[in-house]
Amino acid sequence: MKRSVAVVGAGPAGLTLANLIQQSGIDCVVLEKASRTHVETRPRAGVLEHRSVTMLESHGLADRLLMEADRHGTCEFRVSGQAFQVAYSDLYGGRQHYVYPQQEVVKDLIAAFLDAGGDIRFSVSDVELADLTSSRPSVSWTSADGVRSTVTCDFVAGCDGFHGVCRPSIPDGVLTEFTHQHGIEWLAILAEAPPSTKAIIYALHEDGFAGHMLRSPTVSRFYLQVPVGTKASDWSDEQVWEALHKRFALHGSTWSLTEGKIIEKRVLDMRSHVVEPMSYGRLYLLGDAAHIITPVGAKGMNLAMNDAATLSHALTDFYATGSETGLKTYSDDCLRRVWRAQEFSQWMVNMIHTDVGSPFFGRLAQARLEHLAESAAYRASFAENYVGP
Ligand code: FAD
Ligand code: PHB
Repeated sequence: MKRSVAVVGAGPAGLTLANLIQQSGIDCVVLEKASRTHVETRPRAGVLEHRSVTMLESHGLADRLLMEADRHGTCEFRVSGQAFQVAYSDLYGGRQHYVYPQQEVVKDLIAAFLDAGGDIRFSVSDVELADLTSSRPSVSWTSADGVRSTVTCDFVAGCDGFHGVCRPSIPDGVLTEFTHQHGIEWLAILAEAPPSTKAIIYALHEDGFAGHMLRSPTVSRFYLQVPVGTKASDWSDEQVWEALHKRFALHGSTWSLTEGKIIEKRVLDMRSHVVEPMSYGRLYLLGDAAHIITPVGAKGMNLAMNDAATLSHALTDFYATGSETGLKTYSDDCLRRVWRAQEFSQWMVNMIHTDVGSPFFGRLAQARLEHLAESAAYRASFAENYVGP
């Protein structure tokens, strides 16, 4: 089998890339380890930046999203029973966040790709990459019915997430890895509970952080900071609701939290990881395969899509003109945005957790929040980073 591009992984990065290059007339095959049902129902992120939506819209990939997604331009911080809001959209040219669950993004991108004649192989196993530094690399896999196949191509797009096979296919010593363990853990909860808020809530409490995030009119995402080493099974549903009620509580307010059936509970590994460069020979790494970021600030899915748009431009240029300029600058172009997002996420981690590192950092977090509450200039900078520059 021959294709111009082999895309490994059908998450936001792989599917965005596959759609964009297919629209440029570049043929590709997408190889995905999981089943179609699995990727279309896997709940993860839920916040898209304005620029991600603009990019999807310009390729005709945002029709349902634009009809169904909620727009958000305000977030709320709760500290010691008091709340203040930051109207970040007003502070940054009216740009907004779009709340649209990641599995819906994936569903739409799969449908668009297949409708346009795209080729996705789901439920593949034993994916292996070869000859990455030659002009004809190849990818082999075993299909669900046990048949082993190989595609030779011009380029391989490694979009298979943090635990995939693409990054480990690069020989030792080529990549420089930057990692940071943030020293905190969050219990991520998905509940069949209508949102109790119109704006995302970041609550600081002496027991730890709590977050109320949004997904749909019937489902909400909550986060609870938990002691490092906690297992999801350590927390009963009753304990989760009790902690959420306590940490979100407001003095002298009638605000209340609506409970619902908890449908997912898992501990998130709060760490950052970046590899440089994001390419090796004819292999290009995209999204979580190259960089992971904490959920704080909601950047992960957006960075994955930005990598896809950047690589799609480079490949389109290469096939149209023979120019390799975009391919050569791909890694640096993406890493600039990745590091900026990492810096913002780390800044925000330190603002919404009062017990990371030492009591000294707890006091810094308080000072940062007070600054955000009081200074319009500080809020404008937050707005730019939060909604996406
Ligand atoms: P993935 O979505 O991980 O896709 C990789 C794909 O490759 C998967 O389908 C996988 O099955 C497949 N694969 C793996 N190995 C192989 C293999 N060997 N062969 C073939 N296929 C393989 N980001 C945001 O922007 N906003 C948020 O609000 C946000 N919230 C989050 C909340 C949670 C609880 C979590 C866990 C993450 C959150 N993120 C958020 C991060 C976001 O989900 C990821 O950054 C995003 O999924 C990255 O997309 P990707 O395509 O790079 O990787
Ligand atoms: C989320 O929707 O999961 C989310 C949103 C904003 C954050 C973190 C997570 O800062």
